[in-house]
Amino acid sequence: TVTMTDVEGRTHALEDVEDGISLMELGRRHGVAGIMGDCGGGCACATCHVYIGEEWWEKVGGPDDVEFAMLDMVADVMRDNSRLGCQVRMSPELDGLAVTVAPASS
Ligand code: FES
Repeated sequence: TVTMTDVEGRTHALEDVEDGISLMELGRRHGVAGIMGDCGGGCACATCHVYIGEEWWEKVGGPDDVEFAMLDMVADVMRDNSRLGCQVRMSPELDGLAVTVAPASS
């Protein structure tokens, strides 16, 4: 299960989490508000920006340099627990993950 809170504050419990799917793909499949994925997962748009639940941060891990540079483009809404959803791929050890969709950068 992935618990995804959308930009309108609604919480979705997503059950069909196959190995290797990204958080962006998962969110889009379910029409989770605020997950756009405009660039198709290429780490080039930041419309898949999510905040990782605090207790999950260590397991998920931080962004690499390319992803960090993209996050820096949305610095006004970036937080210490920001990741791009397309760059986080699910694995059994992330079962139970909780994330919140970040608001769009202004
Ligand atoms: Fe564009 Fe993730 S879908 S950066």
